Order: sequence, then C-alpha cells, then structure tokens
Amino acid sequence: MVKVYIPRDTTALAMGAERLATEMAVEAKNRGAEIEIVRNSSRGMFWLEPLVEVETANGRVAFGPVEAKDIDSLFDADFVNGGLSHPLCQGLTEEIPYLKKQQRLTFARAGITDPVSLEDYQAHDGFKGLKKALEMSGQSIVDEVKNSGLRGRGGAAFPTGIKWQTVHDAVAPGDAAQKYIVCNADEGDSGTFADRMVMEADPFMLIEGMTIAGLAVGATQGYIYLRSEYPIAHQILNEALAKAEAANLLGENIQGSGKTFHLEVRLGAGAYICGEETSLLESLEGKRGLVRAKPPLPAIVGLFGQPTIVNNVLSLAAVPYILAEGAKAYADYGMGRSLGTLPFQLAGNIKRGGLVELAFGLTLRELLEDFGGGTFSGRPMRAVQVGGPLGAYLPESQWDTPLDYESFAAVSAVLGHGGVVAFDDTVDMSQQARFAMEFCVVESCGKCTPCRIGSTRGVEVIDRIVNDENREDNLELLNDLCDTMIDGSLCAMGGMTPFPVKSVINHFPEDLHKPVTEDMAS
Ligand SMILES: Cc1cc2nc3c(=O)[nH]c(=O)nc-3n(C[C@H](O)[C@H](O)[C@H](O)COP(=O)(O)O)c2cc1C
Ligand code: SF4
Repeated sequence: MVKVYIPRDTTALAMGAERLATEMAVEAKNRGAEIEIVRNSSRGMFWLEPLVEVETANGRVAFGPVEAKDIDSLFDADFVNGGLSHPLCQGLTEEIPYLKKQQRLTFARAGITDPVSLEDYQAHDGFKGLKKALEMSGQSIVDEVKNSGLRGRGGAAFPTGIKWQTVHDAVAPGDAAQKYIVCNADEGDSGTFADRMVMEADPFMLIEGMTIAGLAVGATQGYIYLRSEYPIAHQILNEALAKAEAANLLGENIQGSGKTFHLEVRLGAGAYICGEETSLLESLEGKRGLVRAKPPLPAIVGLFGQPTIVNNVLSLAAVPYILAEGAKAYADYGMGRSLGTLPFQLAGNIKRGGLVELAFGLTLRELLEDFGGGTFSGRPMRAVQVGGPLGAYLPESQWDTPLDYESFAAVSAVLGHGGVVAFDDTVDMSQQARFAMEFCVVESCGKCTPCRIGSTRGVEVIDRIVNDENREDNLELLNDLCDTMIDGSLCAMGGMTPFPVKSVINHFPEDLHKPVTEDMAS
C-alpha cells in the first residue's frame, strides 16, 4: 500500500484539497491502484497547494499545485511510484530549496505527520519534553525556559521564562487557589498564519507545551482562546485533545505522576483587540473585550483574578523542543538577545507565499528574494509591512536590516508575530497610512481617548493632506497626533497605530505630497 499525502489544513482546503482527495480515492479504486490517502497538513509552501506527496523508497516525492483535473494524468505518469516525468512533479519534497534552506524546530513535524495521530507524534519525538518535565521540579522547568532565551512570539517579545517565574512565585488567592495557563490563539495580525499552522499541523505540540507550562507554575487548568474564524483548527484541536486525554497524557494524574492538567478550547467572537492579553481575559470571563489597566500584570492578577500565564501559540509550541533537547540546543540558534527561530509568514504581493522558519538574523531582503521570489505581480517591490497592522512599512533602503528584535527596534520597526506583507510599486502609501488609522477606529476597544478619538481625527487629517488642504499644517498636526497616541494610549493598539503612519511620513513622503489630480479633487 503506497502512502499518498493530501493536506487537510485551511490553506490546502481553500485550494481544493478536499475534492482532490475524494476524487483521487475514486480514481485509485477504478484503476485498482493500492494507495492509502493520509491527510497531513501543509508544509507551508502555499504557492504549491494542494501539494500531493507520495512515499517512495528515496523519500517523499511532491507534486503541486494539483487540481482534480490533473488526477488522470498523474496516474498515467505513474505518480504512485514517484512519476518524476509529470510536469507538476517537484522532486523530493525535502530537496525543494524553500524547505531545505529552513531551520525548522517548531515546524519540524508540520506536513510530515498526520496531525491527529498520537502514534505518529510520539514516533517523531512527541511528548519527549513532557516526560522530562514530569520528573523535574517546577522551578527547574522555569529555569530551562529562562536559559533558552525564549521571548514571547505574540508581539511584545517579553522573556517567557521571566513571565513563568512571576506566575510560579505568585500565591493564588482564595479557597480555589487556582493558577491558569492561557494560550493566545487569536492571531489577528495581517498576513499571519503560523499559529493556525501549529494548531492544524501539530496540535499535540501545543498541548504538550501548555501541559509543561502547567507543571512549571502549578496550574491545573488551561484554555486555548481561539479565534472563531479558524474552524478547521478548532476541529483538529478538539480531536487531538480527546486523544491526549484518552491516553492519559492530559487530565488527572498524568502518566501516574500525581500531576494534573486540564485543557479546553474557547472560541472568541472575533475582534482584533481580543488578542491583547487583558482584553482576552475579559472575553474569556464572558465579558466584553475591554483592555484592563496594567499593573497588576495578568501573571499576578489574571483570569478570574488568579495568577495566569498568557502566551502566544508559538511561544508555547517552542517549549517541548526546549525541554526535550535542552535550553542550549534552542539558544544556539539566533543572534544577540533574539534566540531560537521565528516562523516568518510571507504574504501580500509575493510570488512564493508561505511559512519560513529560520533562526533570527537573516535579512529581510534575503527572506523576500531567496524565499519569496519577489512580487506576485512581477512589478518592482516598493514597501513591506512587518509585524502586523501596527507594524511599520519598510522602504527598500531598510530591507538589509537583520530580522532580530533589536535591529528592528533600531529602525523604529517591529518584528511582532513575524508577519511580512509585500506591496509592489502600484501601492498608494497615503492610503496605507489612512488604512492604519481606520483600522484603529474600527478595532479600538474605546476605553481611552487618544486611541478612540485620535484615530478618527487621524483619518480626517490624512484625508485633508491628500486633498491638499493646508498640507503643511496638517502634516504637523498628524505628527503631533501620532505622538499623543504613542504617549497617551493605554495599550499598544493606540500606542502603535502611529508606527505605520509615521513610517509613511518618513519613508514615503512623496505619496502624501502628490499633486492633486482631477480624480482626487472630484
Ligand atoms: C491590539 C493587540 C492585539 C494583539 N493580538 C495578539 C494576538 O492575536 N496573539 C498574540 O499572541 N498576542 C497578541 N497581542 C499581544 C498580547 O497582548 C500578549 O503580549 C501576548 O499574547 C503574550 O504572549 P507572548 O509573551 O507569548 O508573546 C496583541 C497585543 C495587542 C496590543
Ligand atoms: S489604546 Fe485603544 S484599544 Fe487600547 S485601551 Fe485604549 S482605546 Fe482600548
């Protein structure tokens, strides 16, 4: 029986993978071909989706992008035995340069295993980290995470080990004396999908990471706060949770260790601000997603007033590797204070969109050219927004900046969640600046004035600049408004909206100074 892999993650399904799998099974039966279709997940080479892989003696051979209409020709070319002559054949999957040049730690299993097969996960080093953690004290687990240098991947890059130490040391108040682990799976940044890929490709890794976090700080309950726009991830996570519980890798008295950790998925109704950690906690408590003032930190007063770890999916997903291979193995990747790897997500006007996991330190240009292959439109690339809708737009002069937290901060930019969105030379940057302000108008939680009112005024001022009304005065006003939002906002929503706007003022001023055309004037 030859194994044929057809992904079942959101991207592949959006590209027709379900129909492909169904029709492939029918055609195999008609031709008497003995194949077993395994529903894996995308490897993150989205321009090749649906990517079909066939197991051969030399390794897996890839074909893509495959449509249902290609099925006949694939069988005719004997793809079941590696059919290298077929025009869609990409050769050995592992040899495709986009994949081969990566350093995959978090995504090491993505696309290789069946996401909901516990056996497959265990055969590929799964639960090795948890087994070690079960024999360690909470403090030594926290120390391991501290020594790895892991910093939060959700945006603020706060050291994960220090956050865990705070929760470890906190005394939970009340009779319940409960601590919580909350996974932030709201993933609202533009062009990002790494969290979704973790949950759809390797859900046990997230479960394992959260369980280790629970053991580290003495929390017996965890929640994955998942955006409702991820129904496939929801389904896969729930399948994996049920299997982990049935195998006693989750729940009461895990593997007879006397330690307990329960885990549930909770769906968010869908608001960008519910990704902000305190707003997320309000939402998880059943309230409206309004930002809480800090301090107190969620690590001390978090969910239902109890000490709580709130970590991004990627931060928690990095933990099993750190425990299994040791802090040093992880810290050996990266540069300076940006250690380990970051899964970059290439999106927008890009030829080869997808996920690229690499150690910190390569340049943005290398990522865009070597992996992305330039723009999808074939036109010159003009601007790149890194770090989500609140991240700066980088002009070509900044593309040689190394991808690490400090180098990006030095050019007033952020890496955030690793989202990279490319634009070609047809982009109107004044409209991108306007969009940033408008996004804040729509997504603001409304609690503080600089963000709630400031963003609305920001849209109006940009409109006046574009319409050439007192342009110089309004530019000065826009600058002042940005500074007020940065200094006066309660959270990073209002505090960072000026980043993309200021980057347009500084790096693409010509778009704000365009002569008014008849079109614009009308
Ligand atoms: C407006 C806003 C939206 C955010 N959205 C997310 C999100 O979708 N996912 C996420 O992990 N962190 C998000 N964050 C960051 C979280 O507040 C928090 O820093 C993070 O979840 C902590 O986890 P980490 O330390 O593992 O990064 C957002 C922050 C802000 C201000
Ligand atoms: S900055 Fe915006 S989103 Fe953040 S608390 Fe203030 S109003 Fe709410």
